[in-house]
Amino acid sequence: MDLELRGKVAVVTGASVGIGREIAKALAFEGVQTAVVARRANLLATLREEIERAGGPRPLALPIDLYGPDTAPRIRDAALSAYGRVDILINNAGGSRTIPWDSPDAAWDESFSLNFTAVRRTTQALLPGMIERRWGRILCVTGSAEPSTVNAAVAAKAGVHAWAKGLSREIGRHGITINCLAPGRIHSEQIDMRLHPTPESQAEFARNIPLGYFGDPSDVAFFAAFLCSPKARYITGERIHVDGGLHRSV
Ligand SMILES: NC(=O)c1ccc[n+]([C@@H]2O[C@H](COP(=O)([O-])OP(=O)(O)OC[C@H]3O[C@@H](n4cnc5c(N)ncnc54)[C@H](OP(=O)(O)O)[C@@H]3O)[C@@H](O)[C@H]2O)c1
Repeated sequence: MDLELRGKVAVVTGASVGIGREIAKALAFEGVQTAVVARRANLLATLREEIERAGGPRPLALPIDLYGPDTAPRIRDAALSAYGRVDILINNAGGSRTIPWDSPDAAWDESFSLNFTAVRRTTQALLPGMIERRWGRILCVTGSAEPSTVNAAVAAKAGVHAWAKGLSREIGRHGITINCLAPGRIHSEQIDMRLHPTPESQAEFARNIPLGYFGDPSDVAFFAAFLCSPKARYITGERIHVDGGLHRSV
């Protein structure tokens, strides 16, 4: 199936490793020009080489820390000066933050800054151009809405779910969709090195997953590419799980 993505322009945040890196590659291999954002410039450089070696369009590497106050206009201006427009935004940078319930404000503010505010600000910076051209795709990589303990990322991402739903109702008439893609347990740096660092802890958790195993970033990336394509024009305001059946809500 031709996803009709060739020639589109995408900004992908959190593209140095994991799910974001795989989404950037999936889009590039469909012919999308990408601007890839993360802090580690060396990993963005290897991503650029990987995409170019495979015949994809050379990405624009933007080594930017999303905690900064002026990052959204910097990303917009860099992408616009390289490509002239942005059609697709993948808000992927983020991460789990299991914290004690009585953590100080600083811990909550750190998580909300990355997992909510950076998502909102980057979207707000890029939306006017999409509205002007009457086409756009925004995808927020969020996560579970079923916390098993206090997690400052789940709270922030619940905010993204509610915000994105409201926004979908305002921007739909401009030909723009916004959806949330909620991974379950996908092999990545944070999962394999921080949350489940041993094969035993992965095997134990996998018993909760109906399909019985952790997913790979490509399991998320292929679906993300579809959701960003013209073919997905009638899907908006959704939270869609890619989790091997892990979530229990219907
Ligand atoms: N993997 C899963 O099973 C899973 C489950 C639920 C939700 N998710 C969500 O999926 C998304 C991707 O997760 P992942 O598992 O692929 O995570 P990961 O392997 O930890 O990658 C996170 C990405 O975000 C970037 N990032 C983090 N902080 C940043 C900052 N301040 N400024 C710019 N970039 C920043 C990292 O790049 P640098 O470190 O180079 O900056 C990296 O590219 C996250 O939003 C996460 O919450 C993942």
